[in-house]
Formats: sequence, structure tokens, C-alpha cells
Amino acid sequence: MALPDSILRRLEEVVDPDRISTGESNLSLHAKDESFHEPHLPDVVIWPKDTEEVSRIVRICHDANIPVTPWGAGTSLEGNPIPVRGGVVIDLQQMNEILGIREDDLQVDVQAGVVFKDLNKKLARYGLFFPPDPGASATIGGMVANNASGIRAIKYGATKDLIQKLTVVLADGEIIRPGTLAFKTSSGLDLCRLFAGSEGILGIITEITLRLVGIPPEFLSATVSFPDAESATQTISQIIRSGLSPAALEFLGINCVRLVNKYTEEFDFPESPLVFIEFHGTNKEGLAIDLDLVRGLCEDNGATHFQAGIGRQARAKLWQARYDLHDFILREHPGLEPMAIDTAVPISKLPALVTYAERIALESDIIGYVFGHAGSGNIHMPMMGNPRDKTSWDVLEDINHRLVEYAISLGGTATGEHGVGIGKMQFMEMEHGTSLKIMRQIKHLFDPKGILNPGKMF
Ligand code: LAC
Ligand code: ZN
Repeated sequence: MALPDSILRRLEEVVDPDRISTGESNLSLHAKDESFHEPHLPDVVIWPKDTEEVSRIVRICHDANIPVTPWGAGTSLEGNPIPVRGGVVIDLQQMNEILGIREDDLQVDVQAGVVFKDLNKKLARYGLFFPPDPGASATIGGMVANNASGIRAIKYGATKDLIQKLTVVLADGEIIRPGTLAFKTSSGLDLCRLFAGSEGILGIITEITLRLVGIPPEFLSATVSFPDAESATQTISQIIRSGLSPAALEFLGINCVRLVNKYTEEFDFPESPLVFIEFHGTNKEGLAIDLDLVRGLCEDNGATHFQAGIGRQARAKLWQARYDLHDFILREHPGLEPMAIDTAVPISKLPALVTYAERIALESDIIGYVFGHAGSGNIHMPMMGNPRDKTSWDVLEDINHRLVEYAISLGGTATGEHGVGIGKMQFMEMEHGTSLKIMRQIKHLFDPKGILNPGKMF
């Protein structure tokens, strides 16, 4: 259904003329995220400046039954913000003000469109940071809506663990402010955690108060090579089970190591599975003890190369290479699109998951780029293909399906951090069973007309 002219006129009354567009290029910029999922044009894109404007827009759409899909930076990997039913896209990127920093309480108030990397640049002068890091330049609103986490979740938690308070516009335009500024609370149902990972289907998050962490004065990093994926992941599993508390513990399968060597000037790792490990703390001596314990575990498991004592600059380059991995994979296969894998399992099951992933990719004659936040049991395995070539794409779909099924059978999840979007909808029943009914009822309670990011999650 095209957007009626009368509704467009009403929406135009809410924002300045340069903050609403039906122009083709603006529509197509909001038709697709970074996934392979089929693009879908919205009818109009609006860039509100504040919560009040979001509320007025949503109220108009609610009255007229028009779909509303919130948009952060469009960096999702599962089609999460694709407006599959058209309607209005609310792009929150102009709501990018840091509203207040309370360093004594380790808290910051932001509008939803603040990019977390920009926030961390500002916070650095206070000696503070917001730890979750999905790699891409995501907005805080998008990170909350997706419960993003990334490389440091293992020590500092995911986005949901760092939300103090939210401002949310509900489906009928009403504004609520769940949460508290207190560090702890036992008061009532936890609505902040309900909105975390809700992907825009329950309400539109417009402001967030985040809990921050002091920038650690010291760090120690190491890279370790292993003869095979099994010994690498066994070691990772043992490090976690030993009670050590790394700030990052990442795994790169051999295909990923090859790409890092090829696309960076700095690195030339042995062509075998690689583990990045990092500890954060207050003094080097304590960290060195932890790293020694890790070295012992690595050697016991047959590590072939252990490099510690990485300096600040080399460490930054190392993490940059890790972040760039997704781009390297795309560059290696021009014209093809990635089928993302994002399963997570309990840590003792990590070696089984990785071995299984590598085996089924090999059996299907597919290059699987296994890597991920292995310390939190979260593994990706992008595989490149052409979604329009059904026969070959079906092979990737099948691998995806088998991996998710396997992860769930191990007590894990279909998505550790990328969210459900379009791609993981098919697994919701398998993963959640009868709980899915309650989720549907919650959706209905918040959005009885089904206007918020329709066609997603269930
Ligand atoms: C990463 C993204 C793909 O870990 O989640 O780089
Ligand atoms: Zn990731």
C-alpha cells in the first residue's frame, strides 16, 4: 500500500522540510542493511531531532496503520532494519547528541543516534569508555535494539548489561522512561532488558543512559598459533573454565588468517588457526601472571607459536585487522554476498561447534571463514555466495540450518549478537519452544496494530 498523500502532508508538519524525504536515493539508502537479505524501499524517510518528534511521527502512523521501522546506522547483518512492509523509516542518525556525562557515577546520557566510536572518543578524556564493540560504526540505539556485544563482552558484558535507563516511544506515540540511575534495583519488571534486543518491534528507543567503565591503565595481549582448530578451541574453553578473566579471546580459523596476511602489510602469521588474547588490569605484573598461566595452557595443547608483549601500536593494528576481517572476506569474493553465521554455545561445547562448522563447510566444498568471540562461545562463519543463484545459495542455507540446529542441540542459540532480523526468524520456534508464545503476546501488548518493524522476529 502506498503512503496516502494526506498522511505525508501530516508527517511534513512534524519536521523541517530537509528532514523528510521521498527521494529515490534516500529511499534506497534505507532499503538494505549489510546483509544479503532482499532490499525493500520504504515510502518515506524521516530524520527526527528529538523524542517529541519521534512521538508525533509514530502517533500519525499509528492512527493510519502505517508501518514504522527505526533505523540506526544500517550496519545490521540479518536484515533487522529492512522495511519489508514499506511505510515510514525513522532514521535516528541526526539524534546524535551526548546529553550529559556524569563521570562521578560512571554514566552518560545519549540520544539514540550517537555512534559508539564517537562516544568513546569523547569519553576518553574522562578516562571512561563504553565497552561493547560490534566492529561496525553502529549507533547506541541500534546497539541497544540489537543487544550488540562483540569482542569485549567476555569481560564487560553485552549492551544489555550496561543500560541504566531508556526513553522509548511506544506504538501509539506515548513516551516511557524505564530504568533507574541506581547501580542496582529489584524494583518491578525489567523493561530495559526487554527492549534490549527487541529490534524495534516493541517501541522506538530514543535516549539511553549507559553505565560506563574506567579505561584500564594496563593491558597485555598475545597471539597464539595452533596446529588445528580443535586444539585452539580446546585451549580457549580451558582458559575460560580456569577462571581467568580475559578482556578478549578471539579465534581465527586458517581461512581468516590467510586473509589477514594477504590484506594487511603488518602481519604474516603462520598459516594455522590463531587466537588473540588480551587482559586488562591495573598493573602489568598481575597481568603477566595471568598471561603465564595462559601460555602454559597453550603449550600443553600444542601451541606452535606464542607472541606476547605486544606494544600499544601493534595491538591497535591487530584489533584493526580483526575488525576488518569482515571487509577482507567481502573483498576476496567481489560480487558475492555473505551468509552470516552467528551461533553461540556454552563454552565447553565450543570445540565441538567449531569442528562441526569446519567439517560441514569442507564436505559441501564451501569456503567457511570461521572466526569469532570464542571466549564467549560465539562463532561466525560467513560463507560467500549469490543469493540469486538458488541452487548454490541453497547449499549455504543448508549449512546455516545445520549449524544453528547443532548449536541449539548443544544448549546454544541461533544468534549470539547479530539478532533475529529476517535471517533467524526460521529458528525462533526451534530455540524458544513454548516461550515464543509469550514473546508473541508481549509483542501484541506493546503493538496491537503490528505497525512497529512488521514482518520481523516472529
Ligand atoms: C564480527 C562481526 C561480524 O565479529 O560480528 O566481526
Ligand atoms: Zn561478531
